[in-house]
Amino acid sequence: MFNKEVYIERRKRLHSSISNGIVLILGNNEAPMNYPDNTYHFRQDSTFLYFFGLNHPSYAAIMDLDENKDIIFGNDVEIDDIIWMGPQASVAEQAKEVGVDNTKPFNGLFAYIQNAVKQGRKIHFTPPYRADNMILIEELTGIKAKDTKNAASVELIKAIVSLRNIKDKYEIAHLDEIMSVGYEMHTTAMRLAKDGAHEQYITGAVESVVLKHGGHISFPIILSKRGETLHNHLHNNTLKNGDLLLVDCGFESSMGYATDNTRTFPVGGVFTQKQREIYEIVLAANNNVRDAIKPGILYKDMHLLAAKTIASGMKDLGLMKGDIDEAVAAGAHALFMPHGLGHMMGLDVHDMEDYGENYVGYSEGMQRSSQFGTAYLRLARELKTNFVLTNEPGIYFIPALMDKWKAENINTDFINFDKVNEYRDFGGIRLEDDILVTENGGRIMGDKRIPITPEELNNIVGK
Ligand code: GLY
Ligand code: MN
Repeated sequence: MFNKEVYIERRKRLHSSISNGIVLILGNNEAPMNYPDNTYHFRQDSTFLYFFGLNHPSYAAIMDLDENKDIIFGNDVEIDDIIWMGPQASVAEQAKEVGVDNTKPFNGLFAYIQNAVKQGRKIHFTPPYRADNMILIEELTGIKAKDTKNAASVELIKAIVSLRNIKDKYEIAHLDEIMSVGYEMHTTAMRLAKDGAHEQYITGAVESVVLKHGGHISFPIILSKRGETLHNHLHNNTLKNGDLLLVDCGFESSMGYATDNTRTFPVGGVFTQKQREIYEIVLAANNNVRDAIKPGILYKDMHLLAAKTIASGMKDLGLMKGDIDEAVAAGAHALFMPHGLGHMMGLDVHDMEDYGENYVGYSEGMQRSSQFGTAYLRLARELKTNFVLTNEPGIYFIPALMDKWKAENINTDFINFDKVNEYRDFGGIRLEDDILVTENGGRIMGDKRIPITPEELNNIVGK
């Protein structure tokens, strides 16, 4: 946990940015796997962590904006809990650590909120994403569980996004520190990528790194030689020298902060010429974006910069043709990069995605593109100092997509389908770094970049 002043300051800022009512922030509960006492790994709600810091199940909190007080609701452990789980600090003792003086048993939440509803006071909450909390909101407010997402407070969402999008110095220091675990995850995969190795074995070794460091994975590990499947969670292949292995994984610290990196490299460490040509294009797209990032620019323009770098590289190789600006305007590059360049990152690997992507990644009045590819761009807004985001361009050869575009004559002015077909079994390459927007530029987070040049990869893969 951070120092209590950090949480006090965050709550103070939220109090002053919303006019009136009650902000209701529900923590998460334990979730049963197959019977109630056998639970999944507990993950606290990120909004609860941001304002109240306590990584403990079955708590809720309110910020009463009219009475200017904060209360944490939760039950102290009883003798049965102590017998099975050992002694634990009381809710009041825990609350003090995050600067909250008022606590009540969990049931007190019902009277508090139901009274406020009767008085016609506004109850602000973020969109719930777990069924138990949807039901709880129904019990507290009378809003049907299925309607609770739509009943979320837009005023609250916007106020929290304004706070959480700008990382404070403590978050930045913490993120910089945990990048070393992401580094270890990736270099572990690189060293194990030898002829005959199994994807599942490497995945297990990568996951063991996060457990050793007292955290978890920030999302299910993507590790496959079938890297053209963007979120490939199958690890059922045996690797052979020369296969391109795509590894996209990250660490989630015990405080809930995420890392998210992708590397792609040839098993055994040596690219074929064909692989290296495509690799260099993705690397150029990544580096061009990194060099151009600074406050005041639109991330949508960085997406288009990556798209143009890719289109131009593909034209040099004969896979695309025509005018690059026109090709990108038509969305032709999306045959190869059918996803957005990146997303905000922080307490969630896709930060605050539970609130709705547009609130986080698009500013007021900014229209989300409906064009295939750019429509998936999660972050398009103007960048500000201390944003933390991902830069993750890629080139993929997806046979089903290639066949569809060819059959439907999509972007035939810009794509050489016969040449593209020569890459049918190529797979995919993505290169992802986590970037902090600084006062006059951007920097890759952590004290060293995960190996990325062909030379660096050659020195570590399979070694
Ligand atoms: N690294 C996984 C994702 O950004 O979707
Ligand atoms: Mn990512």
